[in-house]
Amino acid sequence: KTVIELYDAENRRSEVMEKAGEILKSGGLVAFPTETVYGLGGDALNPEASAKIYAAKGRPSDNPLIVHIADMEALKVLASEVPEKAKLLADRFWPGPLTMIMPKSDAVPYATTGGLDTVAIRMPSHPTAYELIRSSGVYIAAPSANTSGRPSPTTAQHVYEDLNGRIDMIIDSGKVDIGLESTIVDLTGEIPTILRPGYITRAMLEEVVGPVTIDKAILAEHEDPNLRPKAPGMKYKHYAPKGDLVIVEGKKQAVAEMINYLTKMDAESGLKTAVIASDENLSLYDADCRINIGSREHEESIAANLYEVLREMDELGVQKMYSESFAGGSLGAAIMNRLLKAAGHHVIRV
Ligand code: TXA
Ligand code: MG
Repeated sequence: KTVIELYDAENRRSEVMEKAGEILKSGGLVAFPTETVYGLGGDALNPEASAKIYAAKGRPSDNPLIVHIADMEALKVLASEVPEKAKLLADRFWPGPLTMIMPKSDAVPYATTGGLDTVAIRMPSHPTAYELIRSSGVYIAAPSANTSGRPSPTTAQHVYEDLNGRIDMIIDSGKVDIGLESTIVDLTGEIPTILRPGYITRAMLEEVVGPVTIDKAILAEHEDPNLRPKAPGMKYKHYAPKGDLVIVEGKKQAVAEMINYLTKMDAESGLKTAVIASDENLSLYDADCRINIGSREHEESIAANLYEVLREMDELGVQKMYSESFAGGSLGAAIMNRLLKAAGHHVIRV
C-alpha cells in the first residue's frame, strides 16, 4: 500500500512532487529524504496529520515534531516571536542540519508540539525536501521516519522496512548525506542550549552567538532519572539493537586485546558476536564478524554509516556486540550520543 517513488538529480519527475503534495494537503503521510535522515512528513498545521504520524511510528504523543520550512517567511506564521539569536543562526546555518526551538504561534496546533508552547523549526538543505515543501506549500511536520525505538533511517529501504503499509508514500533519493539527526538548539532562554548534539557543533554555534550551553541531562554518563532532558524525545530509549552492545574505550591496543578476549569467551558460550571498528583498526580483531564503520580520518563516514550498521546487527542476529569509541573529533559528541544510547550507556574503560 505504500508506494516508493524515485526522485533525484537524474529523475526529477514533477508528477512525484504533485502526487506527494496532494497527499500532504489532504492530511496523508509522505516520507522524504533530508540531509540528516529520512523524515516522515505530514501537514504541521493539521492536528489529524500529526496524530497519524504518532500512530504510524508508534511514538508517544508527548514527543513533539520538528516543522520543516523552505523560507524565512514561514517563521512569521509558525513562531510568535523570533529571537535575535535565531535570526543570526538561521543566516549562518539555514538551510542545513540545525533545528531551533522558539515560542509557537497560535497557528501551530498542540498536536504537533506535544502540548508545548514552543515549536521546533528547521530549514533542510536537501533538494528533495526543499522542493517538496515549496511545491506543496505545506509546512511539513516530520520526525525521523523509523518505528519508534529503531535506528533512524538513512535510506528509503530502511523507511520501507519500518513503515510499509502505514504511510502513503516514500520519496527515494538514495542514501542521505550526514546520517545523524539535526543539532537542536533551544532559543527561548537567555543563553542558547543544545538539546541534541549533531553535525553543527557547539563551537560552530558559539562563533555566531557567543556562549552556548548543553542540556546537562544529555551529557549524563548514565541515564539519570533526576535529570529530565529538555527535548522530550531524548528521554526515550532509542536506537537500541536487539543484541547487547558494549563500548570499549582506551588505547587502541588495549581495546583490541579486551574485545578479542571478550568475543572469545562469548564464542565459547555459543553466542554470536560482532565487532564494530574503524577501517584503520579492523585487522586488530579476531572475531568472525567484523564491521567496518568508516574511517577515523573522515569521521563523517562513521556518522553516515552508524545507523545502517546498527540495523545490520539485527539482521545478522548478533547477540553480543563490541564497539570502539569514536569520541574526540568534532563529530564525536554527536556520534557518541547515539552510540551510548544504543549501548544503554554500557562502557568498559581499559
Ligand atoms: O534531522 C532531523 O532533525 C530529522 C529530520 C527528519 O529533519 N528529524 C528528527 O525528528 O530527528 P525527531 O522527531 O526524530 O526528533 C525530534 C526531537 C525530539 O527529541 C523532540 O523531543 C525534540 O526534537 N523536540 C521537538 N520539538 C521540541 C520542542 N518544542 N521543545 C523541545 N524539544 C523538541
Ligand atoms: Mg527520531
